[in-house]
Amino acid sequence: MIGDRIEAALNEQITHEFFASQYYLSMSAHFERAGFPGFARWMRVQSDEEREHALRIFDFVNDREGRVTVDRIDAPPSEFGSPLEVFQAALAHERKVTALIGDLYRLAAEEADYPTQVMLQWFVNEQVQEEKIASDIVDRLRLAGENKSALLLLETELGQRQGEDAG
Ligand code: FEO
Repeated sequence: MIGDRIEAALNEQITHEFFASQYYLSMSAHFERAGFPGFARWMRVQSDEEREHALRIFDFVNDREGRVTVDRIDAPPSEFGSPLEVFQAALAHERKVTALIGDLYRLAAEEADYPTQVMLQWFVNEQVQEEKIASDIVDRLRLAGENKSALLLLETELGQRQGEDAG
C-alpha cells in the first residue's frame, strides 16, 4: 500500500517527467529547424529518457497498489534561441527537477515510506548526472563561442548519442 500524500506527490512527478519529455522534444524540433541534426538527436534521446523516468514512477505506484492518475501535460515553449541558450534552459530545467526530487524525498522521509525513499535514490543519483552532463555542454558551448568549427565538432559528437535500447 501507499499513503495518499505520497501517491499524490508521485503522480505529480509523473506529470513533471512527461512535461520534461515534451520540453526536450520541442527543443529537438527547434534544432531540426535550425539545421543542427546532432543537437536534435541528443534532445530526442533526452526526451525518450524522460518518458522512461515517468514510466519508472508509474510502475512503482502500480506495484504499491496505488492509483496512477495520468494528468494533462502543459505545452512546452516552441521558440528557442541559440544552442547555448537552449542548453542553458535544459540545465535550468534539470536543476528544477532536482529540487522536486529533493522535495519528494523529504516527504517520503517524513512519512517513513522506505520503499519510496529507496526508489527515489535512483533519481537522486540520476539528477547528479543530468546536471553534470548539461553543465558540461553549456561550458563547451561557451568555450566554442563564435568558432563555427568548434560548434560543428560538438554538434557531431552529441549526434552520436544512443538511446538506451540501442546500447
Ligand atoms: Fe527526469 Fe531529466 O529528469
